[in-house]
Amino acid sequence: MDRPIRHKVYVTRKIPEPGPSILKNRFQLKMNPRADVLRRENLIQNVRGAYAVMCMLGDKIDSSVMDSAGPNLKVISCYSVGYDHVDICEAVKRKIIVTNTPNVLANTTADLTFSLILTAARNLVNADRHVRGGNWKFGWTPDLFLGYDVHGSTLGIIGLGEIGTLVAKRARGFDMKVIYHSKTRKRDLESELDITYVSLEELLQRSDFVSIHVSSNKDSFHMIDKSKINLMKKTAFIINTSRGKVINERDLIRALKNNIIAGAGLDVYENEPISRSNQLTQLPQTVLLPHIGSATFMTRSKMAEVAANNIVNFFYQRGIVYKIN
Ligand code: DGY
Repeated sequence: MDRPIRHKVYVTRKIPEPGPSILKNRFQLKMNPRADVLRRENLIQNVRGAYAVMCMLGDKIDSSVMDSAGPNLKVISCYSVGYDHVDICEAVKRKIIVTNTPNVLANTTADLTFSLILTAARNLVNADRHVRGGNWKFGWTPDLFLGYDVHGSTLGIIGLGEIGTLVAKRARGFDMKVIYHSKTRKRDLESELDITYVSLEELLQRSDFVSIHVSSNKDSFHMIDKSKINLMKKTAFIINTSRGKVINERDLIRALKNNIIAGAGLDVYENEPISRSNQLTQLPQTVLLPHIGSATFMTRSKMAEVAANNIVNFFYQRGIVYKIN
């Protein structure tokens, strides 16, 4: 067993085992007992004196939080693969390392991506509501909840990283034709997965389903806007399990309202949580999930293990630390 180090480690929200056990045996662990987001003033107060902070999406980790933690802060461990909630430049300036949880959530997120494709294409949410609402009056009906075929259709993947690649693999089981666009062309994967590289414009024109798998940064901000949506087929769907800021949400709403495209399956939004008045919630051709791409018991547990081990391995100077900076 490791000799405990008395450093304070602050975890901004309750995480599953084995995360807490890994940390509490080695550090002075302080963890918010609740899973919902901390108020800003509490976050600032609770990180005081911490050597490591484990944070979640929705916790804005900027210079004020780093100031409050003080000069001891050495590690910001993201309980996520995405790190757009952390001011990386500020962390670099202060020689704080920022870590994340790669490799453990891609399959789970790819599964959810496929759920969104199927649910949006086959109108499943509206059909379920119809049954529950007691509106199913006439048994089998020739035109009840007609949707679109997924099998044999064309899937356009934007961003062929870990998750995009796993979505492409799943598409083979549905006999889909897969085209992709990525910052870097991945020739080795093209033959392995039978996928074709195309320009973003061609991808949008040809796809029946456009699935987004890029990270959020200044290059991807509003990458999908009115001009890009206008290239899509009237019968096509946009699926987004990456980050909301990649799509200009106002343009998407306008396109859906005007039937420029057939629908959207979204797990992420420009601002989360979305408000009840967000017009996406009023459109029947959207499937809206509350950012649950990685939300399975198994994966959240693995994420907790990796995020905790990033801290342990840094301070005990061994093993893998998944550093971003
Ligand atoms: C991530 O890890 O970035 C996902 O969005 C949530 O698990």
